[in-house]
Amino acid sequence: MSSFTADAMTSTAGSRRVVVISGATGFLGLALAAHFQRAGYEVRALARSPGRAATRHPSFTWYRCSLPEALDPRALEGAPTALIHCAFETHFRSEASARATNVEGSRLLLEAARRAGVGRFVFISSMSAHERAESIYGRTKLEVERMLDGGRDLSVRPGLIIGSGGVFLRLATAIAGSRVVPLFYGGRQPIQTIALQDVCAGILAAVERGCVGTLRLGEEESVPLRELYRAIAAWAGVRPLFIPFPGGVGLSWLRVAERLGVRLPLSSENLLGLKHLEECEVRQDLARVGLRPRTMRQSLSDLARPRTPRRPGLTSRLKPTPAEIRELALRETDPAEWPHFQPITRGPLFAVLLLAGVGIAAAPSALVRMLRGAGGQHGA
Ligand SMILES: NC(=O)c1ccc[n+]([C@@H]2O[C@H](COP(=O)([O-])OP(=O)(O)OC[C@H]3O[C@@H](n4cnc5c(N)ncnc54)[C@H](OP(=O)(O)O)[C@@H]3O)[C@@H](O)[C@H]2O)c1
Repeated sequence: MSSFTADAMTSTAGSRRVVVISGATGFLGLALAAHFQRAGYEVRALARSPGRAATRHPSFTWYRCSLPEALDPRALEGAPTALIHCAFETHFRSEASARATNVEGSRLLLEAARRAGVGRFVFISSMSAHERAESIYGRTKLEVERMLDGGRDLSVRPGLIIGSGGVFLRLATAIAGSRVVPLFYGGRQPIQTIALQDVCAGILAAVERGCVGTLRLGEEESVPLRELYRAIAAWAGVRPLFIPFPGGVGLSWLRVAERLGVRLPLSSENLLGLKHLEECEVRQDLARVGLRPRTMRQSLSDLARPRTPRRPGLTSRLKPTPAEIRELALRETDPAEWPHFQPITRGPLFAVLLLAGVGIAAAPSALVRMLRGAGGQHGA
């Protein structure tokens, strides 16, 4: 097992409030860095390529952290107030590589934080982390939560974060670029969202109030997934056709496509995540941090609207105009976030639907069994 050390720290932080953030180049990490800095904290940002990150975001001090093998020990010098661990590899090739980065990497970071006397270890988990989770993502999140000490560490479980990046923007881009959007497992699954600004405010309050244990951050009432999809389509100014689609069939075909190396906007991992969405009771946790988060519709209406696709007959692309970028930058964190806004064509979604349709009509049960077997890598 690889290891890194954060030994031989000297106490230099003194009374300054210092926060260390892993995954600080990411959607949430960068927003948290800006939020804590505005609140008066010295921010030490961790990145795999600190030189490049420092060029793009010079207001933070950057240190190298590439999980599971490298951590610049200077990042933890002087017993910082908190380490907020956002880094998580979601585009993994196999369960083994996901575990190496996310589980072993988190363990090593936690051990380094302990040795360095960090005041609070805050792990950014997910509402997907629960006993019934089948996705590698949900299971590894739960595994990391279990290695924490509930009496001194904090696990934050945010809902789907609505803002100009992350899973939300990938989802919105896929919906805006598709004429047909499949509603897997009926689209009735409950989902809770939270605006980027609200999750940052909740985490800052949790650090300042010394919260430990598990903290669920999301809107109080869940919405059915199909309602979220429809609201996103309305926000993006598009009107795709939503059709219910059997999740099991979709899962089989996605696994085959992944085996064949076909890149699609949706993965079998995503689908397993959608299958096991559950409503979380959040009211007590919101009271702990004094947060009244926006509803999904409020979060969307507060987010800058993307430009209406200019050529809806061809490839629909959601790309913000310079004015939108400026507007969003004022409201949120940093316009450099917008590269997350990757255009996705509608072609791949059609391909999935077509393949699945052919499958339902023609595949004999033996073939279906064979295909399910072939998907073992991401299997339940
Ligand atoms: N977005 C949501 O809706 C949502 C909801 C619930 C929970 N979360 C959790 O919140 C956290 C942040 O999510 P996000 O949306 O901000 O994701 P993101 O934009 O993909 O950011 C992930 C960050 O992790 C870093 N990272 C990945 N692999 C790493 C490795 N091996 N070593 C060091 N750093 C690594 C990435 O660095 P590079 O820039 O070098 O790739 C990036 O900074 C994650 O733990 C995620 O599971 C997110």
